[in-house]
Amino acid sequence: MILEVLQFPDQRLREIAKSVLEAEVSQELRDLAANMAETMYDEPGIGLAATQVGVAKRLIVMDLDWSEDQPRNPRLLLNPEIVRHEGLEISEQEGCLSVPDFKADVERYGRVIVRARTLDWEEIEFDASGLESYCFQHEIDHLDGKLFIDRISKLKRDFYIRRRKKQLRREQEDSGHDRFL
Ligand code: NI
Repeated sequence: MILEVLQFPDQRLREIAKSVLEAEVSQELRDLAANMAETMYDEPGIGLAATQVGVAKRLIVMDLDWSEDQPRNPRLLLNPEIVRHEGLEISEQEGCLSVPDFKADVERYGRVIVRARTLDWEEIEFDASGLESYCFQHEIDHLDGKLFIDRISKLKRDFYIRRRKKQLRREQEDSGHDRFL
């Protein structure tokens, strides 16, 4: 099932997600993870956090190098946590499904060690660099109620917020207009 992805400035994107306990790993949670993966491929994107579909739980899905004609194998991860990091790099043209029509360079750790749980409650560790590292940081930020636009200059952020507000006003006007047709 495709889920609705919340978009800035939806306040639910600012919620801090709660850790998932082992006893909470239910069929419902597995379905949510599967639906999140389906939604990520549909958008399309390479990562999605539960926060983005309005669920404040520490669950992310990721798949960095999927393609249309290959079998898909998304990572479904609970309680992902950066346990070590090193270096600073600039992620080039980072974007987000919740921040429509905008990309920016963001300062990110170059390498992160991430610890998480699978849905079978196995502990799993990743040694990620480059895009994989940026993606982990981006999705974990979502779980903390943060967006990549919080990590760019105020000037660039304000520029985006103004443009986004205009866009939303236009959409509202258009839908208001429809009602009179
Ligand atoms: Ni995002």
